[in-house]
Amino acid sequence: MRCPLVVIYALLFCFCFSRGDDYILDDKSGLGRTFDGIGGLSGGGATSRLLVNYAEPYRSQILDYLFKPNFGASLHILKVEIGGDAQTTDGTEPSHMHYENDENYFRGYEWWLMKEAKKRNLNITLIGLPWAFPGWVGNGNNWPYDFPDITANYVVSWIVGAKQYHDLDIHYIGIWNERNFDNKYIKLLRYTLDKAGLDKVKIIASDNLWEPITFSVLHDQELSNAVDVLGAHYPGTTTVMDALKTGKTLWSSEDYSTFNDDIGGGCWARILNQNYVNGRMTATISWNLVASYYESLPFGRDGLMTAQEPWSGNYVVESPIWITAHTTQFTQPGWSYLQTVGHLKSGGSYVALTDRRGNLTVVIETMTHDHSACIRPPLAPFTVTPQNATFHLKGSFVSISQLQLWKSRFDFKTKKPMFFQKLDPVKVSDGSFTLRLDVDEVYTLSTITTAQKGTHPDPPPSAPFPKLYEDDFNVRNASFTEAPHFADQTGVFEYFKNLTDPGPHVYTLRQVVTQRPVTWVTDADQTISVIGDYLWQNMTVTCDVLIETTKTGGVFIAARVDKGGGNVRNTKGIFFWLFADGTYKITRDIKGETVLAKGKSGASSDTWHTLSLTVKGDSATGMLNGSPLWEVGVVSVPKNGWAAIGTASFQLAQFDNFAVAADQ
Ligand SMILES: *[C@@H]1O[C@H](CO)[C@@H](O)[C@H](O)[C@H]1NC(C)=O
Ligand SMILES: *[C@@H]1O[C@H](CO)[C@@H](O)[C@H](O)[C@H]1NC(C)=O
Ligand SMILES: *[C@@H]1O[C@H](CO)[C@@H](O)[C@H](O)[C@H]1NC(C)=O
Ligand SMILES: *[C@@H]1O[C@H](CO)[C@@H](O)[C@H](O)[C@H]1NC(C)=O
Ligand SMILES: *[C@@H]1O[C@H](CO)[C@@H](O)[C@H](O)[C@H]1NC(C)=O
Ligand SMILES: *[C@@H]1O[C@H](CO)[C@@H](O)[C@H](O)[C@H]1NC(C)=O
Repeated sequence: MRCPLVVIYALLFCFCFSRGDDYILDDKSGLGRTFDGIGGLSGGGATSRLLVNYAEPYRSQILDYLFKPNFGASLHILKVEIGGDAQTTDGTEPSHMHYENDENYFRGYEWWLMKEAKKRNLNITLIGLPWAFPGWVGNGNNWPYDFPDITANYVVSWIVGAKQYHDLDIHYIGIWNERNFDNKYIKLLRYTLDKAGLDKVKIIASDNLWEPITFSVLHDQELSNAVDVLGAHYPGTTTVMDALKTGKTLWSSEDYSTFNDDIGGGCWARILNQNYVNGRMTATISWNLVASYYESLPFGRDGLMTAQEPWSGNYVVESPIWITAHTTQFTQPGWSYLQTVGHLKSGGSYVALTDRRGNLTVVIETMTHDHSACIRPPLAPFTVTPQNATFHLKGSFVSISQLQLWKSRFDFKTKKPMFFQKLDPVKVSDGSFTLRLDVDEVYTLSTITTAQKGTHPDPPPSAPFPKLYEDDFNVRNASFTEAPHFADQTGVFEYFKNLTDPGPHVYTLRQVVTQRPVTWVTDADQTISVIGDYLWQNMTVTCDVLIETTKTGGVFIAARVDKGGGNVRNTKGIFFWLFADGTYKITRDIKGETVLAKGKSGASSDTWHTLSLTVKGDSATGMLNGSPLWEVGVVSVPKNGWAAIGTASFQLAQFDNFAVAADQ
């Protein structure tokens, strides 16, 4: 290609008069889109399960790093799962309506979490989204839209309950996470919200891909009127032309999901900028908020920070927390992006935002390809090299004389990164400033002076789950419905109080889901809650059990349980089952198919029994009410895994005096 003279002059001009590549920051010809915030997603599913069990002051410290303004991530948005009693990735979350005639707005931990977030940031934006629904919502079908009025009323009742019982205003509501939407349902949801006086609650659709919701919104005016935000998941920083054509607000309503080491931090830095630069998305929400689930469940540590050891109090403030701070501490929802945002000439990107009253924030990232790949989608190759960048302030920003400067530097060679350091302010001379940018760096330049790198004293050191653990379910905090450390993988296990019981079983743990939910993944046909250390090999699990269902009732205790999450149907381990028909069974799987032993137990429903299961090396033994009942060889079972309790189907059953003693 021939080089026109004008280009040669321009190149000469740059070499002679500029200290680097030039970028303009200007609001003269109007602004870009309105910024809606950076957020975290709790749930989808059970990702904050272990957080609630942390003792103070650690629990509050973790919450500070997430939500406290001018401290850590200082998140603008908290999105939560509307529990649907079904498995939604790392566990189940309880519904506020297990049964059609049941309503309880104190189950689980999402209410508590929303209140804790709001305590720290009154302005936090709250979002609710269902992944699954109790079985009755689908009237027994695995589909929530056959009776759209039932589903809409169910979802709206959650929003009404949030206000009535917790004084929480839900600002946005979603449809059905990463599953089909239904135009009729979305319109009916809008109508039902309005009728309940919730016209301020906005609808996000459809928490999946850009299509087909974009097509539907473009071709159905009534649907378009009902939908406020097009929310896409893992958009890879891009959108589609038709989505822009709708004129709707565009969000990356779920993103990140990457192991939270420094590459995870790099992924987050790149997408926080480029979701706007490439895709005009004005909010980005991390799945997940905080990795507070057993790490051996699917997607271990895919949160902005790690808090997976309530028994030790240990938590880790990972790099994504400080990367978030680079944006969140210097801008707020309601600010506007400038039109002058984009890519840097030698790789990386910059965004600029203003409060339209003279404040300016610029965020720059120079993440290299290999240090910023997210879990999905695949990242096309690109190169980033060191560069000098000169920014020219124009329009409302022309008289700014200095900018606060904050820097992070990932260092993958010497592993001595630095995150969110305040450096000397940058002097703006003749309306411009120049930065020497290396690769794998993040900078914020801003007129905002309130940012801080918050710190709490170091938490206690990491420690494995206690080798001896027991819970009689008598000591409980009335604020929570779940027993510490039990991570439900199918079904819901709740504290239960039987005031008419004259004996020792007044306070128990009860499995309460009695109908297969409208599922998000294929839950097991049995219910199961896991606990302990995934690396455990040899252990004794003991538990009192009460089968409440006559004839077809059955419960189990288990050891070396090797799976949870979406794989729960294929869970293996050593399962000791007790049935209401007076039999017992030992199996290698939750399906109960590979039977190692079986026989008569003489047990029945409505009577408490004590089960005990010992697994050691290649053999296992079981006791019923203190007497040996069976002994088997356990060749080709998992070598290690959690302890567990559960039921043979979706049925009521109770558990008491749970204990586990592990060898190592
Ligand atoms: C909440 O928003 C209001 C108005 O925008 C602002 O004055 C106030 O400082 C904000 N509060 C917090 C805690 O961010
Ligand atoms: C920037 O924001 C601060 C704090 O919100 C405010 O006091 C100030 O007037 C704003 N404008 C400029 C030009 O700094
Ligand atoms: C950036 O500018 C400095 C001088 O200010 C120069 O030494 C350096 O080589 C430049 N870097 C690049 C990548 O151009
Ligand atoms: C129960 O938990 C709530 C919420 O964390 C807390 O405020 C309360 O102090 C706890 N109560 C007891 C008795 O521990
Ligand atoms: C409560 O205890 C009474 C007395 O032992 C018993 O008859 C009843 O079945 C128990 N109810 C439940 C739901 O366990
Ligand atoms: C489990 O028990 C077997 C048999 O006693 C033993 O060989 C093995 O080392 C034990 N495993 C651990 C981790 O203690």
